[in-house]
Amino acid sequence: MPTKVQCLLTCLVLTSVACGRDDSPSSETGEKHQRIITTETETEAVEQQPKHRTIDSTPDLNASLAIFEKRILPIFRSAKPSSCSECHLSGVDLKEYIRPTQQQTFSSLVSAGLIDLQKPDDSKILQLISRRPEQPSLVTEEVRKEEYEAFRRWIRAAVVNPNLVADDNAESIGSELPIEVIRHSRRDRVLSSFVENVWTEVTRCAACHSPDRNQKQVKEHGEQVSWIKLRDPQATLDYMLETDLIDTDEAEKSLLLMKPTMQVEHGGGQKMVVGDRTYKQFRRFIDDYAAVVEGKYAEVEELPKPIREVSVVTDIWLKFKGIPAKYDKMLLQVDLYRKTDSGSAEYRVATSDRPVFGKGNLWQHSLSLTAPRGSKWAEEMRSKQLPPGIYLLKMYVDHTGKLQNDFTAKLGQDDFIGQVKVESLWPVGYGRMTVVKFPAE
Ligand code: HEC
Ligand code: HEC
Repeated sequence: MPTKVQCLLTCLVLTSVACGRDDSPSSETGEKHQRIITTETETEAVEQQPKHRTIDSTPDLNASLAIFEKRILPIFRSAKPSSCSECHLSGVDLKEYIRPTQQQTFSSLVSAGLIDLQKPDDSKILQLISRRPEQPSLVTEEVRKEEYEAFRRWIRAAVVNPNLVADDNAESIGSELPIEVIRHSRRDRVLSSFVENVWTEVTRCAACHSPDRNQKQVKEHGEQVSWIKLRDPQATLDYMLETDLIDTDEAEKSLLLMKPTMQVEHGGGQKMVVGDRTYKQFRRFIDDYAAVVEGKYAEVEELPKPIREVSVVTDIWLKFKGIPAKYDKMLLQVDLYRKTDSGSAEYRVATSDRPVFGKGNLWQHSLSLTAPRGSKWAEEMRSKQLPPGIYLLKMYVDHTGKLQNDFTAKLGQDDFIGQVKVESLWPVGYGRMTVVKFPAE
């Protein structure tokens, strides 16, 4: 069917259609109600009324340029973020798909495959712009509509402008960043990192900071203690950013870190120390978030390494008694390994860390369950239960205070102080702690 193919490829027929819905102002398109018809049925319709076609082609040439200057260039020059920012925190912007001149923009978009010469309305660039979240903000939705209309009108006019030439060697257009960086900077990715690193941990703070549980604190200290937004990690993150609990200029000065580590006074006392597991997770998120919004990542190698271990906070408590007082105030970390027939498993299934209370010769804290990402145990541990049984507990103490100097440091063989086998039902609840006598050294 050569004629049909030929027609689809070449018959970009301009016609006037009786159409009250196309609201193109004539000043911009030159020709009112112009539409590009490419489908068969519509082509037939066109053939029946060829006499309506405007013969004078001069306005066509000016039309695309007029639209480009009036509608596309302002997007290019605008200081405001484009609608893309609703999903991409950084890394891509509509401006990057525009060049200073119409010809450059056209040839670059065509050679990048973003303009469909045959079916301009199906152009990929329009698909990119029309992407919208389930609940777009009203403001962004307005911006998006304008961008879409601007590009749609310009592309329609541009593909029929014989003065604009496609050029396969045109300068590349769009973000220069590696795809991994663009992906990393997407809002949905950032939110899941927030959930993994912060949201899961703040259950530790919920007794005083969650609005369903902190009536007393609110009465005494005011509404701002309710910084956890119930069942809504995105709202919690937004709130933390608005109120500078997360400070993207000086990550380590964020109140979310300073308060619970008592680097500034905290109504709840010391809940974390610099370098402990929760602190590391908070920093992982905050440092990364700051780098994303400031557009600091240019190379794949600069992205944070994926963490192989995932964790959940539980209300299973563990207590050591008889700890030597010399460990007072030092961070003690305990890792739990499952006993197997051939010894103990190679990865820890739970961990906990907190400074020793030397005077009382004791240490107690809730457990976090841990698992290799993607493992069966990672699924199972979501129940926040540790199966009853015998576990090997390995203890480490930060003798040298290295975590204070470098929060990324890890406790390892040098810090090992002993191990003990413990059998327990691992019941849940502060009142039902598993109590272990600290092994003699
Ligand atoms: C509704 C959210 C949303 C909006 C708005 C959005 N994007 Fe995306 N974008 C995504 C998602 C999700 C992906 C990855 C999944 C995919 O490729 O289908 C993505 C992927 C991309 C990629 C490819 C990188 C990759 O992961 O393969 C580019 C480039 C891109 N978007 C550019 C843009 C531009 C330019 C805009 C604005 C005109 C924009 N996006 C608007 C959600 C969005
Ligand atoms: C035993 C109760 C309690 C616990 C548990 C607690 N806090 Fe607090 N926190 C308070 C009180 C009371 C205040 C208000 C007084 C103040 O600002 O110090 C407060 C204030 C804060 C603030 C300042 C909020 C603002 O907008 O002014 C931050 C941030 C904070 N806590 C972080 C944490 C984190 C993180 C945790 C968990 C790791 C935590 N807190 C656990 C009692 C607690």
